[in-house]
Amino acid sequence: MTDLVTQMAEAGLTSPMLPENRGNPYPTYAFIRRLEPVHHAPDGTWVLTRYDHAAAVLRDPRFSTNPARLGEGVDLSKESPVRQAGSSLMMFLDPPDHTRLRGLVSQAFTPRTVDSLKPRIERLVDELLDAVVDRGDGEFDVMADLAYPLPTVVICELLGVPVADRESFQGWAAGASRLLDNYLDQAALMEGMAAGMELFRYFSDLVEERRRHPGTDLLSALLAAEAEGDRLTHAELLSTVTLLFVAGFETTMNLVGNGMLALLRNPSEIDRLRADPGLVRTGVEELIRYDGPVHITARIATTDVEIGGRLVREGEQVAVSLGAANRDPAQFPDPDRLDVGRSPNRHLGLGGGPHFCLGATLARIESQAAFGAVLRRFPHLAPATENPTYRDHFVIRGLTGLRVRITPPG
Ligand code: HEM
Repeated sequence: MTDLVTQMAEAGLTSPMLPENRGNPYPTYAFIRRLEPVHHAPDGTWVLTRYDHAAAVLRDPRFSTNPARLGEGVDLSKESPVRQAGSSLMMFLDPPDHTRLRGLVSQAFTPRTVDSLKPRIERLVDELLDAVVDRGDGEFDVMADLAYPLPTVVICELLGVPVADRESFQGWAAGASRLLDNYLDQAALMEGMAAGMELFRYFSDLVEERRRHPGTDLLSALLAAEAEGDRLTHAELLSTVTLLFVAGFETTMNLVGNGMLALLRNPSEIDRLRADPGLVRTGVEELIRYDGPVHITARIATTDVEIGGRLVREGEQVAVSLGAANRDPAQFPDPDRLDVGRSPNRHLGLGGGPHFCLGATLARIESQAAFGAVLRRFPHLAPATENPTYRDHFVIRGLTGLRVRITPPG
């Protein structure tokens, strides 16, 4: 039998990780799902593209998120400060540490607490769009004018990070989030590590400053938990703050960008949302499914496990393709169609199981406010560029910019 890689080449397809496929990886995902839904890649990683397999692995306690469980050595040196701090990142911990840490942070992320931020978030969106209107140039950049500043300001305010420092953040956070991409060359790896270290250094200083002058923010609440002794270690505190910060805007920002592009390419869905603004709730879920920012997540088998008739051995890595699972026709009728009213819609764009996105409520409120306000305030929306460019990230996929015209032509 010809192997998958050869068959892909014969069909004119290349790896979905390559920059040339960033714009539309979905036909390649569909091809892989059809031919070899549990694919053993040449580098030894298992790649899952079916919804049922992906959903099951995310919930299966036999799979770990801890890179230390990998049978082979990982790329990052054990001595690196990023790696050391990274080893206390909640997303790389298993129970019981994961349960304890997540429990502490969840107290600040209850749907009620986050819901109380809604008026502030809506005001912020309006201020950002006021600035666009005041500029009066008939178009705006969805990324620079809305998608980036909105979640950045929100997470800064929530954590108690000075918003004035945000110019530095975009570069550091984007660099550090690239460390999630497994397939980096040496130069990109070094750049990502350097950015991650800058971020940790920045937060170390901020933590010390907040220790001296506590406030009412989440960082101060976490410091109080640290002071209580064995509940939260210093390394956990530092990595939690950094994780919340990076996860707090890298993802939402790219959902707003990818989602707006999807809507612009499906004007009838914009019409539906305008006719019935309440549809923004199912609309945002659909945008997360249809072209969400997080394309892949990894797990490591802690014992031999059979998936779809293939044997994944202890210590082997499984790449769960959320992007592919979210377009699986066995789960979603007509999966390549954007349907803002889609229901049910049990997408995996926010993960699933114990590591399900901790910021899901916040992300939903921010995105609903952003899409709702843009559609309400700008009756004429049209792309100002045919082919917007993508960042060089595979795991968190998003646009570098998205210019949109808001005045009718002529
Ligand atoms: C549209 C926006 C967002 C998307 C698509 C998204 C997606 C995800 C996904 C897929 C996971 C699971 C990763 C895995 O299972 O390996 C996750 C976890 C996580 N997310 Fe989000 N996220 C978003 C926004 C946010 C926001 C706003 C925050 C925080 C303010 C946040 C914080 C987290 C944290 C802390 C985790 C790790 C949870 C754990 O390991 O228990 N996310 N997110």
